[in-house]
Amino acid sequence: MISITFSSTASEEHNGISLLRMVQKCRAVNQRWDVTGMMLYKDGAFLQVLEGPDRAIGSLMQSVQTDPRHFGVVVLSEEPLAEREYPDWSMAFHNLDTAASQSVPGYAPFEPLALNGPEFQSDPDLAQDLLALFRNQL
Ligand SMILES: Cc1cc2nc3c(=O)[nH]c(=O)nc-3n(C[C@H](O)[C@H](O)[C@H](O)COP(=O)(O)O)c2cc1C
Repeated sequence: MISITFSSTASEEHNGISLLRMVQKCRAVNQRWDVTGMMLYKDGAFLQVLEGPDRAIGSLMQSVQTDPRHFGVVVLSEEPLAEREYPDWSMAFHNLDTAASQSVPGYAPFEPLALNGPEFQSDPDLAQDLLALFRNQL
């Protein structure tokens, strides 16, 4: 198994409903391919971790890279994975534009950062810290 974390920029503005629709489609496909993970959305940017069999993640990433609904996909980390971090989630999701997400303890230092910004691209551990914060909310 492998785990891939990437950030990207949404091509269009999203609201709660359009995001939920997208996540629901992802969940159906991911379940079929034994893929799990989590998506964060904030202010027009995505941060996502995908985990699963190497071939499934490889072909999914090919679709994701060419999906016109976003651009500027940057892979922040790619690692072999012995044990899943999201075993119960075909795609967990948090919209960080909501007050509920913003009040999660430990979120404050991340609040000024864009998910597709240079801070996460130059420091993959930072992305893992943010993902861990929201993984603990599941
Ligand atoms: C930010 C983002 C994340 C995505 N994550 C997934 C995902 O986890 N699983 C999935 O099946 N599709 C995901 N998609 C959609 C895929 O890019 C693609 O539309 C879908 O796999 C269908 O691919 P196909 O049209 O080549 O069959 C994502 C799209 C975006 C914009």
